[in-house]
Amino acid sequence: MADQSLKVRLRQIRLEAQGIVSLEFVAADGGALPGFTAGAHVDFLLPGEKVRSYSLLNDPRETHRYVIAVLREAEGRGGSVWLHDRPRVGDVLEVRPPVNDFALADTPSESVLVAGGIGITPLLSMARQLEREGRPWRLHYAARSPAHAAFLDELRALDAGRGRVTLHCGEAGQVRLDMAAAVAAAPADAHFYGCGPARMIEAFQAACAARPSAQVHLERFAASSEAATAGGFELVLQRSGQRIAVAPGKTILDALLDHAVSVQYACSAGVCGTCMTGVIEGEPDHRDEYLTDEERRENRQIMICCSGSKSPTLVLDL
Ligand code: FES
Repeated sequence: MADQSLKVRLRQIRLEAQGIVSLEFVAADGGALPGFTAGAHVDFLLPGEKVRSYSLLNDPRETHRYVIAVLREAEGRGGSVWLHDRPRVGDVLEVRPPVNDFALADTPSESVLVAGGIGITPLLSMARQLEREGRPWRLHYAARSPAHAAFLDELRALDAGRGRVTLHCGEAGQVRLDMAAAVAAAPADAHFYGCGPARMIEAFQAACAARPSAQVHLERFAASSEAATAGGFELVLQRSGQRIAVAPGKTILDALLDHAVSVQYACSAGVCGTCMTGVIEGEPDHRDEYLTDEERRENRQIMICCSGSKSPTLVLDL
């Protein structure tokens, strides 16, 4: 495939949100780049034979540049850290031409875009195209906090005060993402587009289960880790004194709900922070995308929708 690759020059790096940079590339020879459609990605051929896919977030009308955004994942597979730390403006990188496995349907009906974290990138490109073509759209964007949500200014400009863009954060005072309600509010002929971590996409698929599959489109990026479902440990709820065994195949959230313990959750994917619960004793097995590395090391909080326990007992502030 090397003969199909092309050389691109890094023109700009910009900090877009906490832990997220955008990188703008132009053709190394100064010419036009192969065109793309909204939802497309390019494969970057990184040193060490690493191939990493990144969605293009700019307007698909543009042929003079490719813009991607990268979340720095210290515990990821290395591509994001390399892209954050190594390339300098002017450097030439190698990419494969854009491919689209997540294209917009050719329909005048409403498009409902659901983004989790860095999953905003292809959906931003879609929102730009839908808006330009005068087609109805709505965007739900789940992020840890407004400071962690990239491209809010661009999204606000696209929204132009019409209430089409809703930012969902797990923090107090912020609107939480209710996936089922977001889907239920859309007309019968709406098309749904979800992009985010694997676990968020599972929740998205479940919420869209009653809709025709041809109207449900998704792009899942590899979660840096799977939900902890090995079970084999016990929860102690400090306030009620209740003890609950977490069986294999269950998350902590599953086990609590099975025992009718009232807890808040939304994305079920470790993205939004809604289910954050205090840890009083024990060592969590963190699997979320929400806590910082330092917060993980402190072990004072856990996302119960996806994280498990490394210790035989986990005492929670419940
Ligand atoms: S419910 Fe969103 S992080 Fe757990």
